[in-house]
Amino acid sequence: MDNRPIGFLDSGVGGLTVVRELMRQLPHEEIIYIGDSARAPYGPRPAEQIKAYTWELVNFLLTKDVKMIVFACNTATAVAWEEVKEKLDIPVLGVILPGSSAAIKSTVGGEIGVIATPMTIESDIYKEKINRLAPEMRVQSLACPKFVPIVESNETQTSLAKKIVYETLAPLVGKVDTLILGCTHYPLLRSIIQNVMGPQVKLIDSGAECVRDISVLLNYFEINRSRQGDVLNHQFYTTASPLAFKEIAEAWLGRDIRVEHVEL
Ligand code: DGL
Repeated sequence: MDNRPIGFLDSGVGGLTVVRELMRQLPHEEIIYIGDSARAPYGPRPAEQIKAYTWELVNFLLTKDVKMIVFACNTATAVAWEEVKEKLDIPVLGVILPGSSAAIKSTVGGEIGVIATPMTIESDIYKEKINRLAPEMRVQSLACPKFVPIVESNETQTSLAKKIVYETLAPLVGKVDTLILGCTHYPLLRSIIQNVMGPQVKLIDSGAECVRDISVLLNYFEINRSRQGDVLNHQFYTTASPLAFKEIAEAWLGRDIRVEHVEL
């Protein structure tokens, strides 16, 4: 048993899609979240810079004495997860393997699409992981650089968002039966993405899939929280405006939260 919190990192508000799922599946676990909205999006940045930023987020979480770190960001997972998990002596989880396995299980015709940030697509990591497990799968990848800014500026309900999603996804429509949302920001655009792709396409939320793995690791290392039923002190930190973060987070999580600004 271990009553310390679980740490989550993301370039901004996207990791909240993982947190929402964690609150649903493991409601007694305590959360420390850091979102680097001041420097989002990470996706168009060079790999070395993303790695350096990710280490800053990891080091911040370590000052909070977390028992596990979840990379609630595909881009950080693609470039820094291997290195960070080798160096830390607590479990470190990424979102890419769980999303890949879920897509393999879900596809009927073996036609899998991946949408993600430019860096995640450039790394080709989803295709690599999927084809290592299932070489017969065909994987089509598409970078969607305009999606994260829409989410960070809380414009997901606008007609501009619909137009951008419609135009960006056009090359994949009718070509895949399963689509991995390979960026944790994208579930906030889920209903528009589903409308554009059509109801027959199964959407895979890589972040939500990763919560099943969190649960397995908590059990494996016997570090579940023991004090079930006590008041949890979830803490959310952002490098940008706490008010802007709070507005998106409270709407998405359906509860009031405390958000603090932090300089890294
Ligand atoms: N949520 C991050 C991801 O899953 C977005 C990265 C970005 O800021 O571009 O990749």
